[in-house]
Amino acid sequence: MSDDKLIIFDTTLRDGEQSPGASMTRDEKVRIAKALERMRVDVIEAGFPVASPGDFEAVQAVAAAVTESTVCGLARALDKDIDRAGEALKPAASARIHTFIATSPIHMKMKLRMEPDQVVEQAVHAVRRARNFTDNIEFSPEDAGRSEIDFLCRVIEAVIDAGATTVNIPDTVGYNLPHQFGELIRTLIERVPNSDKAVFSVHCHNDLGLAVGNSLSAVLNGARQVECTINGLGERAGNAALEEVVMTVQTRQDIFPCRTGLDTTQIVPCSRLVSGITGFAVQPNKAIVGVNAFAHESGIHQDGVLKSRETYEIMRAQDVGWSANRIVLGKHSGRNAFRTRLKDLDIEFESEEDLNKAFSRFKDLADKKHEIFDEDLQSLVTESGLEAGNEWLK
Ligand code: KIV
Ligand code: ZN
Repeated sequence: MSDDKLIIFDTTLRDGEQSPGASMTRDEKVRIAKALERMRVDVIEAGFPVASPGDFEAVQAVAAAVTESTVCGLARALDKDIDRAGEALKPAASARIHTFIATSPIHMKMKLRMEPDQVVEQAVHAVRRARNFTDNIEFSPEDAGRSEIDFLCRVIEAVIDAGATTVNIPDTVGYNLPHQFGELIRTLIERVPNSDKAVFSVHCHNDLGLAVGNSLSAVLNGARQVECTINGLGERAGNAALEEVVMTVQTRQDIFPCRTGLDTTQIVPCSRLVSGITGFAVQPNKAIVGVNAFAHESGIHQDGVLKSRETYEIMRAQDVGWSANRIVLGKHSGRNAFRTRLKDLDIEFESEEDLNKAFSRFKDLADKKHEIFDEDLQSLVTESGLEAGNEWLK
């Protein structure tokens, strides 16, 4: 794997589905997986096969339907989980098993009730067992963000020796800060003696709104896989949003030493599909995929964008799948935007004075109404034109 490739691992169908209320049927998962494949996502985590017969079938169906992306199934570091995942993934052209066990003091003591030595032993055993099904094995030390660094290094070295090809570092509870998480990744890559034998990955949760920032900081410190979800769906406050990670890396190529292989024009269609299927609406001001992400309302911004798009846009709306940016007419809009929209509607004025009259009527209306649509403009101009004896209407 070349060093400048950033692998995009989408977990919308697994961690995303853990958003309370976002569960998906088998057929819905297949539809989303096909959309992710069209977007050229590298790895699709399709589910947690041992969790239920339905999820087993869903992973199996995704594995059978997807041919271009690797299909992954999640498994605790337990034989029954791994065997179930291996079974579900049988139809896949390229399969990965993702196995995990917690490594933080609180999880080991309170949840697993296991000694650290037992955790290392179980992690190694799980990776070896997964190798009965595939050579593509990912291991996650759950709650790595709150684990002790020496112990983390020990577990990671052991699982790489056992055959893990991807080591994923989860900030399971979204506790880390970007500088700290980046430092963690750098330290692990430097200190684990066999770190060059695996790809380092990150999986960040958004409890403090830092999932994307933490993921990107990790990439700047050597991680070459990011786990993320469409629209930032996921357990509790969600995971890192795929669209934000991918577009930051693409937009700031002056900073990032790597690229994704994604077709970014599929981002908005995919976001809409996931939102439609799960019923989770996308907030209007959501970066990249919110309806306002490329909408300009203020006169100063509209005038700038109409003169040169780059004055207020760092990405092209079309590059992420919108048909165009949007000039929204409202009370902050200026004359230039007003005139441009009327021109698009084939309405022109004979004199500047006529335009001014119509513009002042438009401002009165905009004070009463949030957004002015084309129909409002048509009737505003018609009414004004009649009143003015049609003298300024062509
Ligand atoms: O958040 C987490 O730790 C997970 C693991 C299973 C990777 O989702
Ligand atoms: Zn998670």
